[in-house]
Amino acid sequence: MTSVWPRIFAALGLLTVITEAAHTPPGLPVLGNATKPGADPLRFLVGVQQTYGGQYPLVQLDPPVGQRIHIVLDAGLVHEILEDRERFARPALGPQATRRQGLLSTEGALWETQRSVLEPEFLGATLADYANISGAVTEATMANWPAQGTVDLLEEMSVLTLRVITRGLFSRDTSPETGRAVHAAMETFGRELEFDIGEFLLPETLQSGLSEEFLAADELVEGVAEEFIDWHRSQADPPADMLTALIEAQQDPSIELSANELVDETVLFLTAGQETTALTIAYAFYWLTQHPRARERVRTEASRVLGGDQPGWSDLSELTYTEQVIRETLRLTPAAWNISREPRAPTRVGGAELAPGELVMLSPYAHHRDRRVWDNPTTFDPDRWAGVASRGQDAYFPFGSGPRICIGRQVALTEAQFVVAGILQSYDVEVLAEELPFRPAVTLQPATTLQARVTARD
Ligand code: HEM
Repeated sequence: MTSVWPRIFAALGLLTVITEAAHTPPGLPVLGNATKPGADPLRFLVGVQQTYGGQYPLVQLDPPVGQRIHIVLDAGLVHEILEDRERFARPALGPQATRRQGLLSTEGALWETQRSVLEPEFLGATLADYANISGAVTEATMANWPAQGTVDLLEEMSVLTLRVITRGLFSRDTSPETGRAVHAAMETFGRELEFDIGEFLLPETLQSGLSEEFLAADELVEGVAEEFIDWHRSQADPPADMLTALIEAQQDPSIELSANELVDETVLFLTAGQETTALTIAYAFYWLTQHPRARERVRTEASRVLGGDQPGWSDLSELTYTEQVIRETLRLTPAAWNISREPRAPTRVGGAELAPGELVMLSPYAHHRDRRVWDNPTTFDPDRWAGVASRGQDAYFPFGSGPRICIGRQVALTEAQFVVAGILQSYDVEVLAEELPFRPAVTLQPATTLQARVTARD
């Protein structure tokens, strides 16, 4: 995809190209123009990547007020920055991000403590449990589907992934009603946090605050989290799961974890793990609808490997084509379309001087479409992953990179693989949208609901 945007911005002097030597201060930018990337940030970022990638390690947007923005174009530099937790922090984007103290938003010692308590919950035997839970919840979801009819696919997948998370991490199931309420809350968060570079350009005092609707949605999710915590506390012999690990950590005097942080962490896991995975599965069905031959291959593989049973842990390594489909879905439609960092102190990177408060944007969406790296970058082609798990690795980072890489990535990949294979062996799923317009918020949201026609197979 080419775009005239970068040239327009360059012409306006808004985009300063950084060379190894030095950079020229921008001309006279205009705020009205500076807000334009907010109108279509995805197209803007892809255009910048295409036009300046390979030439310059990074470029910068220099607005008249507010933070300077650096867009990192060199994939090696992306990893260098994400690797370097000492120099770069994950910024709190807007007031909402500072509300909660979970793994996603903490820094320093608190982050280290939380990550070390939680990491074991995502490895080894626990992963096998998730796999089996994903298979069982997929079956339960389809049991409520009509033999033929239309479903709101993203809502269905959100309810499903919430149930997997709560059963896997908190040993508790959630009702479809709770699932739908959390999904609606996530949509509210999405609307409120819609990505708008214009907001970054404004001084913090002028940025919009949180709406009543947002606060109500936040309270709802918090209520769900508190119920899980209360239930665990009331058990004489609590299950060995993530929440128990956190509650035990809280009682350990050497670990600093307040009651509020425990609630925050629970809320973050409910939301971070649920929505991203639901989007990935829904997008996989979109791509498979557009590519019926790929869909047929998934179905054939699912029937051969699963033989009509629900997927279980031992099937994982054999669902290879399905895995390629998920990897390709995460390439073209990465739920985390942008990753941000800010320098902790003045620093130099890729020939540019960066100061605290400036925003560094590292966009999987743009890198995953870089035509210098990928053949036919906008084509959905799961075969590009056949036998080459590391192909294009540097320019492929749907789960981030470095010490803060997604803690749930294996869970998400396994779950998505099982759900897609498990459903396709029993149902035809056809996403009714021909086009897929996006509304990039914190995650890559579809601009419309994703309705799908589902038809049971004999
Ligand atoms: C396809 C699904 C998913 C995608 C695309 C995704 C993407 C990401 C990305 C890009 C990051 C790094 C953000 C950064 O460096 O600023 C991240 C971090 C994180 N993810 Fe995921 N994620 C997914 C699923 C999950 C699941 C299933 C869970 C939990 C069960 C989870 C929990 C987290 C947490 C807690 C962090 C913060 C880690 C830290 O800072 O130490 N994610 N995710």
